[in-house]
Amino acid sequence: MDRWETLEAACLQCRGCALEQTRAHVVFGDGATDAEILLVGEGPGQHEDEQGLPFVGKAGQLLDDMLEIIHLDRSKVYVTNIVKCRPPQNRDPLNVEQDACIGWLRKQTELLRPKIIVCLGRIAAKAIIKDDFRITAEHGQWFQRGGVQMTAIYHPSALLRDVSKRPETFQDLKSIQAKIRELCVHTEV
Ligand code: URA
Repeated sequence: MDRWETLEAACLQCRGCALEQTRAHVVFGDGATDAEILLVGEGPGQHEDEQGLPFVGKAGQLLDDMLEIIHLDRSKVYVTNIVKCRPPQNRDPLNVEQDACIGWLRKQTELLRPKIIVCLGRIAAKAIIKDDFRITAEHGQWFQRGGVQMTAIYHPSALLRDVSKRPETFQDLKSIQAKIRELCVHTEV
């Protein structure tokens, strides 16, 4: 898809905020550019910054395990983040950084036209679903925006820190599996 490659090439040159000064790599995203499911995290961590790929560290390993529960292979989805460059010391991305970066995700979404968007954690849910999203109360619920079904689950890093959240996340994953079966045409789970 050459429009995709053009977008990626432009993003890799981005100097839209101060994170460009400390990044090693822009992390545009990874996966199938015809995916029916888009997963969106918060921002690259150290390993992602080093490798230029999303979710390749410990949280990424857990994400793979979570997808495995619903028989969803990473190669069948597209994975990206709200901000494409690593915030120093993995702090939350600032609003000014998110605002500078969100256009890349909008364009990715326009080209991909996913059926389902899964927000990984609070930061993505607030940026994509609604500004006052409360992850503890609203994870696993479904929202419709412009014909796209959206939900949020706990961020894999939160599940590494707090295993007591895992049973709820299991239920959320089963709900995502059911939604994929309902809506997706070429994604088998
Ligand atoms: N956490 C995120 O939110 N995104 C990544 O790519 C890695 C860890």
